[in-house]
Amino acid sequence: MSAVLRVAYVTPELSPYAKSGELADVAAALPKYLASLGVEVVVFLPYYRQPELESLEKEVIVSHLPVYLGERVVKGRVWRSTEGRFTLFLIDNPRYFWREKIYGSGKGDYLDNDERFIFFSKAVLETIKLMDKSVDIIHCNNWSTALVPVFLKTLYHRYKIFKRTATVLTLHNVAYQGMFPPESLALTGLNWKYLQSGLVSLNGHFNFLKAGIVYADMLNTVSSSYRRELWTQKHSHGLASILKTRRQELISIRNGIDYELWDPAHDKYIAWNYQPGDLEGKRRNKLDLIEEFQLDLPPNLPLLGTSFYLSERKGIDLLLEAMDELMKLDLGMAILGKGEEIFEQALLSMVKKYPHRLGVRFDWSPALIHKLVAGVDMFLIPSWSEPCGLNQLYGFRYGAVPIVRTVGGLQETVRHVDPQTGQGTGFVFQEHTSLALIRTVREAIRCYRRPSLWQKIVRQSAQLNFSWEIPAKKYLRLYYRALQRAGIQKRR
Ligand code: GLC
Repeated sequence: MSAVLRVAYVTPELSPYAKSGELADVAAALPKYLASLGVEVVVFLPYYRQPELESLEKEVIVSHLPVYLGERVVKGRVWRSTEGRFTLFLIDNPRYFWREKIYGSGKGDYLDNDERFIFFSKAVLETIKLMDKSVDIIHCNNWSTALVPVFLKTLYHRYKIFKRTATVLTLHNVAYQGMFPPESLALTGLNWKYLQSGLVSLNGHFNFLKAGIVYADMLNTVSSSYRRELWTQKHSHGLASILKTRRQELISIRNGIDYELWDPAHDKYIAWNYQPGDLEGKRRNKLDLIEEFQLDLPPNLPLLGTSFYLSERKGIDLLLEAMDELMKLDLGMAILGKGEEIFEQALLSMVKKYPHRLGVRFDWSPALIHKLVAGVDMFLIPSWSEPCGLNQLYGFRYGAVPIVRTVGGLQETVRHVDPQTGQGTGFVFQEHTSLALIRTVREAIRCYRRPSLWQKIVRQSAQLNFSWEIPAKKYLRLYYRALQRAGIQKRR
């Protein structure tokens, strides 16, 4: 059977190999679910220096891939691995990608991120040029791949293989735009007029994300609330007016989660497998987590967890501010994170202060994340901004009741519990303050102390369906819309 569509899915992150945020989980799941719909997917990822990538079974398929960066030719290599249901292409250039982190160290971004991701974007197109069949869609994600649509419509326009290719750009978070000095344009090979006309620039910078927004055939965000937020200055980070010009082509598709991977009944990382909604099975995982984090917490007391990129956008400042009060509440807390160094330090000093009740690990290995969701009673997401959020969805499945700020995707996925009726799936707060956070944790604990109410909340949430099945179908429709917009006829 021939594939319904051929898609190149271009991503800077992919779980479990390279993860800085939830995009990595999306990139690992969506291609799989698209493949189940008959789509042939090739995922493109930079070859980072990660032991998991090094040990992956793979072969070199292009040993000298020439990529023009201005006048210079930089060589790359391409590896292929067949990763379950999709093919993975790794773009290899040790100088750019053999580093410890994806975008930068805890102190700031790598200074050559413009060069690294211009190279990656062009290398993707160069690789496709060498394929014997064209792709129908190139699906890009975030600023770091946003130049692909720009290159496709300019420098690569004349190649026959791209004549029937349309582009989609997913905006997972517009707070990160890839802003560089105007001189960076020289690396692309594009003419200065692109900057002067404002097509690829914003406020005097070469802005990768803006450029992608201008050039992609179709755009999407990851929840409808976030799409609405993008019309406001507060959440659009200066992109509201350009986004408004593309309102017709900007749709929203809320992320799903991979139920094959996130299923407590078959999860290979957790201490005890249990059915969603089963609190006894969960209790055993809680004991395991308490041990893992070396906490001294009687298991009848609530254990709160969170896992996030340590930045103000994700609300680490609120949590730190609230910590002393939270620790008075007779609870335990387990935190997983990576991120800005000052917050890592601040968390470490909190652990010194509350060694028995607070545990922190700067680690995002899948095993720990799964253990965390399986072991905690409540999952805290205090984000200032959250385009979608996946942890609340994992929480529903694993009986970790979410406590979230009402913003973006959190707002449309979590319903506040009514303690009278037991209806609801979590606890939400609106104001971005530590007081609101503490008040809501207190409320959640009051409900936790009523076992039958808690059980009802957990069971209700376990019934929810946030699988990728439906969103994947929506992406398929989005791809056909992109083809239509690009004037490409394709029979369904
Ligand atoms: C970004 C957003 C997050 C979203 C994820 C995947 O990390 O901040 O809310 O869930 O992308 O789309």
